[in-house]
Formats: sequence, structure tokens, C-alpha cells
Amino acid sequence: MTPTIKVISNHRSIRKFTEQALSVEQREAIMGAAQAAPSSSFLQASAVIRITDPELRAKVMALCGKQPYIGSAPEFWVFCADFNRHLQWVPEAQTGFAEQLLIGAIDTALMGQNAMTAAESLGLGAVFIGAVRNNPHELSALLQLPKGVIPLFGLCMGYPAQDPETKPRLPASLMFCDNAYPAEFDSATMQAYDEVVQDYYRTRTGGRKEMTWTGQIGDTLSKEARPFILDFLKEQGFCLR
Ligand SMILES: Cc1cc2nc3c(=O)[nH]c(=O)nc-3n(C[C@H](O)[C@H](O)[C@H](O)COP(=O)(O)O)c2cc1C
Repeated sequence: MTPTIKVISNHRSIRKFTEQALSVEQREAIMGAAQAAPSSSFLQASAVIRITDPELRAKVMALCGKQPYIGSAPEFWVFCADFNRHLQWVPEAQTGFAEQLLIGAIDTALMGQNAMTAAESLGLGAVFIGAVRNNPHELSALLQLPKGVIPLFGLCMGYPAQDPETKPRLPASLMFCDNAYPAEFDSATMQAYDEVVQDYYRTRTGGRKEMTWTGQIGDTLSKEARPFILDFLKEQGFCLR
């Protein structure tokens, strides 16, 4: 196993941080790693806003489900898809295509994951924050996002003040296949995985949580997911055609 694969495979989200700040060198190394991510058609359709102002951080936290680590992490960065930059330079650029939402989201996610891996390779911990999409209008106003820019996810980073277990992933056989999507659903393997996840939660929570994976996705997918997002995307100039 290479050191890189080891860092990636040891990933677990960190939600408690010490107060120790990152050095400028660490921060710049993480930024460089993020920017080294591949980019579709080399559009580099991303912008990252680092929230350093404590008052602003508190307001952002309030808009993101009040998740305390947004307030306490030494670093909190908001990753955005950005086509505003292109429009500034090429005003006649054709934008608003649904495909461009995918391009912006994919480019930015690759940057985010590079940043997380770089941080973890430096001995730091991190967690992504999808809750930046909980109140996208208010957050965009707060961060002064122009049309063509949407917040996709946040990233908290810092020195870990906890050491959680890695979370068991689906068996590879359920996620990887050769040449065509599997014709049959492997429910026996899924059931075995459910027990693994249930055990993981039981151990991690001292018996307080005993959720299976299918139970968890059943809960998550039983309600509308941010139904306001489509209108927001359109207002920001995405998904118009
Ligand atoms: C795009 C994205 C958004 C996420 N948003 C949140 C969030 O708002 N709050 C949180 O505590 N964790 C968030 N997570 C972390 C996931 O809950 C976590 O990655 C998942 O449970 C797997 O656990 P692990 O990262 O420890 O392996 C997010 C992860 C991703 C990829």
C-alpha cells in the first residue's frame, strides 16, 4: 500500500478540533492540492471562500443547521461552483445549461476531496458540510455570491480532538462490476452489510444507536430533499435549459 492510499483509506470525518491553527504553509499546500484537481474542459468552474471573520462564521453556522464544528474548526471553507468568472471575461459565453451544473459540481467536488486528502496527509482532520445548501438564498447574500455562483459544500479542517473509527463502506461487490450494471440485486450481501453498519453504530454510540444502513437511507429518502434548490439554481443562472 502506498502512503497516499493509506491516508485516503484511513479517512473518517472529524467533527471535534483543537484550537491549534493551521500554518500558512499548510493552508497554502492544501489550496495547491485542491487546485491541482483535474477540471472538465479546463473550465476551472469553482470558487472557494474561506470564512475567517468570527461573526460571519457564527452567522454561517446558524444557517447550516447550527453544526457547532462550523464555528469551532480552525478553518472553514465554502466551495462554490462558479461560472461568474467566465462571464466576466467572456460576456457572450453561453451558460445556464444543466450540463454546466454537473461540470461545476464535479470540478468543485474533486477540488474539495483533494483538499480533504491533503489536509489528512498533514495529520489534520476534516468534514464536509452539505448544510451550506440548507438556506442557499441567505448564505449567498451573506457571502455576496453573484449570479453564476452557488455554494455546494463547506469543509471544516483542523487538528482532530477525537479519533473515531473508519465507517464501514458497502462491500465492493455491490459497488463495482464489470461491463454492465448487475442484472440481479444481491440482497444477501446487502443484509450482511446492514449488520456490519448496525454493529458499527452500536459500538460507536455505546448501544444508543442501532441503525442499519437500509434503515438510514430509508429515513433520509423518505422526505423531500431541499425542495427549494431548483428555484435557487435558476435564480443563480443554473439549470435554465
Ligand atoms: C457532500 C457531503 C456533505 C456532507 N455534509 C455533512 C454535514 O453537513 N454535516 C456533517 O456532520 N457531515 C457531513 N458529511 C459527512 C458525512 O456524513 C460522512 O462523510 C459520512 O457519514 C461517512 O462518514 P466518514 O466520512 O466518517 O467516513 C458530508 C459529506 C459529504 C460528502
